[in-house]
Amino acid sequence: MKVIETIAEMRKARKKLGEPVGFVPTMGYLHEGHIALVKRAREENGSVVVSIFVNPTQFGPKEDFKSYPRDTGRDLAMLKPLTDIVFMPSDTEMYPVYYDTWVTPGEIATRLEGAVRPGHFRGVDTVVAKLFNIVQPDKAYFGQKDAQQLAIIRRMVDDLNMPLAVIACPTVREADGLAMSSRNVYLNREQRKAATVLYKALTLAKEMWEQGEQEAGTIRRRMTALIEGEPLGAIDYISVADPETLKEVHHIKPPALVSLAVKFGKTRLIDNVVLE
Ligand code: PAJ
Repeated sequence: MKVIETIAEMRKARKKLGEPVGFVPTMGYLHEGHIALVKRAREENGSVVVSIFVNPTQFGPKEDFKSYPRDTGRDLAMLKPLTDIVFMPSDTEMYPVYYDTWVTPGEIATRLEGAVRPGHFRGVDTVVAKLFNIVQPDKAYFGQKDAQQLAIIRRMVDDLNMPLAVIACPTVREADGLAMSSRNVYLNREQRKAATVLYKALTLAKEMWEQGEQEAGTIRRRMTALIEGEPLGAIDYISVADPETLKEVHHIKPPALVSLAVKFGKTRLIDNVVLE
């Protein structure tokens, strides 16, 4: 496994990689969710590139860029058996002082996470486009956990005719259902216990759908009541939407994306399920 910190060196190394090249962009502090993406990339490609870059442009001024958890030593040890190249650029390598070009997603980025985190998906699209240009992968792997990010990146790749396949991987969960996330470390013991309510609410939605409920409003109301029964959690949104456009739906025609954001203290958790 080679660790590369500059764009020039990454470009040079890219030429020698076995095809096809699978790519997993991350912000590090890796967990089993990230590793599942890397394993899938390993299975489906001749070589695997993973990037670790805590992208400053996707964090709002009041968000956790400075305190975002980092542990490069541990990350590299986890990647070693699975990865050919780890691309780990510095902030100034990616954004030199004169940097002034942005990839701005449209309406799709105004909903859900985008409504609460203005500018977030502009930062995501910009860095992912840059990483795609640098690494030039054949396939790029993203988690279903961040369903809106996935939909926005698919839209960008389609709209800008980027020559690669976007591959979605299922959400990896803890034994009690909580979706793995680098931000789970922010939760204290009580909050960590309370956070299982997200998966309980999503499971309820799935069960209602499987038992024939087709009205999004009814599902949303029952999920709201369930989460409101957990005093440590504060609902940001509960959404039933078209997985491609993220537009809210009333009468469910599958597939539909049920997603939610709930705050525990300062920590905001997101999760989702798709009704097929
Ligand atoms: P990060 O949060 O590190 O996530 C990297 C990738 O891992 C994303 O595709 C995310 O959806 C996936 N992932 C995270 N938790 C997961 C889980 N429990 N199960 C399955 N996949 C999971 O998402 C980002 O970084 C950044 O926005 C990035 C795309 C790297 C751009 O900066």
